[in-house]
Amino acid sequence: MSKSCNKWEYGNSWDKFPINIGQTWVEMKTNSSFAVHDLFDPLPAFMMSGDMIYCDPPWTLGNVNSFVTKNHSSKYISNFKDFYTQLFAQVGVIAPRVCFLEIGKKHVDEFNTEMGKIFPTVQVWKTTYYKKHPCFLLRGGYEPASFDYTGSDDEDTPSLAIRNENPSCVADLCTGRGLTAVSAISQNKRFVGIELNPRRMAVTLDKVSKKGGDICQK
Ligand SMILES: C[S@@+](CC[C@H](N)C(=O)[O-])C[C@H]1O[C@@H](n2cnc3c(N)ncnc32)[C@H](O)[C@@H]1O
Repeated sequence: MSKSCNKWEYGNSWDKFPINIGQTWVEMKTNSSFAVHDLFDPLPAFMMSGDMIYCDPPWTLGNVNSFVTKNHSSKYISNFKDFYTQLFAQVGVIAPRVCFLEIGKKHVDEFNTEMGKIFPTVQVWKTTYYKKHPCFLLRGGYEPASFDYTGSDDEDTPSLAIRNENPSCVADLCTGRGLTAVSAISQNKRFVGIELNPRRMAVTLDKVSKKGGDICQK
């Protein structure tokens, strides 16, 4: 296959960590679990261990559907509300002590409203994404956080949030290429995560392994 046809195959991580739908892979030292799983399906039981969620979901309908395309799927959705309603339903199912979500300007108000249906306290900070794009970091919890994330970049906010919240287990419903997972496991925290695309989850496993993680299929 030519390089351009191969652009969504995410390097050779999947050759090393060929995770597939229906499998759980684990990181042995932290008892972390990873599965290729659609958040529209009932969650794997291990996701319930998360007492903190940190998640960077798709920000718009176009973004949701671009990830469907990248997954070589045709399960497109027609309304972003369908996506975030399901995302927040799964936050409610996990019922963590605290939940951080990243979102762009277009839907920050809807995310704020949905977070407020689950948590008594919602805080919103203006942050950056890839050091240049405006982003909003939302935190839902039972008490407000005293830390001010204003101006922080999304490369740092998962680590900062995990350090500040000191959870026993961090959950991510859109694990992607593993920023939250690496941030948690680097702090010796348990991580549990799902991700739609096996190739993207393999990148996460590869990164965790390169940081000294002991990865194997359960
Ligand atoms: C913005 S990216 C996450 C970026 C992540 N922080 C990282 O380090 O790569 C959003 C992720 O959500 C995943 N995703 C999209 N729809 C999903 C679904 N229905 N279920 C689970 N994951 C989904 C995408 O495949 C993508 O990897």
